[in-house]
Amino acid sequence: MSGAIRAFVMVQFSTQPSSSVKVSDALAVYVPSDGQPLVFNSSLGELVVSSYDRIFEQGFSAEEEQIFFTHLHNSVATPCIFVGLGKKDLITTDLLRRASALMARKAEENNITAISFYPAVVKSAIQSTQAIVEGIALGTYEFMQFKSKKKPSKKLHSATLLYDNPLEKDTFSKGIEKGKIFSESTILARDWINSPPSDMTPAKMVRLARQLNSKHLRVKVLNKRQMEKLGMGALLGVSRGSHEPPYFVHLHYKPASPPKKRIALCGKGITFDSGGLSLKPAASMETMKYDMAGAATVISVFNALSKLKPNVEVHGLTPLTENMPGGHALKPGDVVRSLSGKTIEVLNTDAEGRLVLADTLVYAQRQKVDEIVDVATLTGACVIALGPNMAAVMGTSSKLIERLHVAASLCGEKLWELPLENSYKSHIKSSVADIKNIGKPMTAGTIIGGLFLKEFVGEKTSWAHIDMASIGWTSERTSLSAVGATGAMVRTLLGYVLSHN
Ligand code: BES
Ligand code: ZN
Ligand code: ZN
Repeated sequence: MSGAIRAFVMVQFSTQPSSSVKVSDALAVYVPSDGQPLVFNSSLGELVVSSYDRIFEQGFSAEEEQIFFTHLHNSVATPCIFVGLGKKDLITTDLLRRASALMARKAEENNITAISFYPAVVKSAIQSTQAIVEGIALGTYEFMQFKSKKKPSKKLHSATLLYDNPLEKDTFSKGIEKGKIFSESTILARDWINSPPSDMTPAKMVRLARQLNSKHLRVKVLNKRQMEKLGMGALLGVSRGSHEPPYFVHLHYKPASPPKKRIALCGKGITFDSGGLSLKPAASMETMKYDMAGAATVISVFNALSKLKPNVEVHGLTPLTENMPGGHALKPGDVVRSLSGKTIEVLNTDAEGRLVLADTLVYAQRQKVDEIVDVATLTGACVIALGPNMAAVMGTSSKLIERLHVAASLCGEKLWELPLENSYKSHIKSSVADIKNIGKPMTAGTIIGGLFLKEFVGEKTSWAHIDMASIGWTSERTSLSAVGATGAMVRTLLGYVLSHN
């Protein structure tokens, strides 16, 4: 199977003056529950308003995310999707995103391939159109690469944003551009994460990452020998049971002018986590191809950086390996020496993410950056603690964590801060090595993961750890995601990087 770095948003987005809309065009209309439908200036717009009483009688009350498909009676029947937004004052860009996703899917259900609408706006018009574009692009995403029958034309191909005033055209176009880049990178991460684990190997991820190499974006790759020379004993320990060679990818985006900030983004890249000799039960292994979601997220962010060219220097660091039980695999009780020199007693080979990230965080600090953020599907405990709609964040800098909170909320993702409780440090004391890789059974698993990583971060380093095990994968369809990889945290990290710009 071939795979390319390019992910495509299937829907084409464009702007048109509202005067050009034709009665035969399918329309979407955003409606607050305590107001009138938001329409453009034209006779068709007037028809929407005059038809609204009938729609209301038929049961549409414009509650949040309520979607209603009907035909407007005209010289021809105009297909029209009403999109509920709830109370005017409570509308957020995130609601626009989710409602637009549902609208786009309703269009597809009704064989509509092209849709026109006047975008609803809350606060910023650019941010609102960006959110609408993301909703449509992400909500209609499906992973088809491994289906032998590609779905026929029952897809939405085009979305036209109508404007009344030529001044709006420019704003809408800017929002579209940003929305496309944010969606494309999210889709890229989804495609990679959804790919079968024997396809998306460390070597394959390296091949794909290399395609990002360009003037301002350098891609450096360390192979096993180079990692041995450096002393990445923790990462190499994890890879020992696998036949697939491990790699370490170092992406480096450097803007043309002196950067406002220097950041390192680190992403856990276990392309398959069997647990190693501490083997996972079969059911827990079913989705473990998504254990490289952190790395896919980081690489996807760089895909966007090369287009958005912010004035921020960014390092992307991804340790890539499988975690397998082989004859050479790490055994519970083994001791590995990390890049910092600290020794780790590996009592459970399934707690491998913290091992590969330990070396990565040490490497990150050598890049002389101002802030370090790591993203990882680190603990099952995170899934249990927070459920499917929020990721855990912890770290050494409240300013950095606040910035991440803001970035997340702007793109409709949620972070919940957990404490790096000092008194639990005793749980990872080892009688043999400097530290061990697990704490006490069933006790603060996500915090212990964070505390372990903190052991590899200097006292003065601004660092945040995002445990995205809870949100990286969805077993049920959501408004923005099909079953499988969600592409979560790509947009948050991108927003975070851009917030320094
Ligand atoms: N990749 C898993 C964490 C995970 C579990 C992610 C479920 C997504 C869904 C990680 O490597 C792991 O297995 N962690 C162990 C740690 C334990 C042995 C201390 C866990 O969470 O059980
Ligand atoms: Zn594991
Ligand atoms: Zn893992």
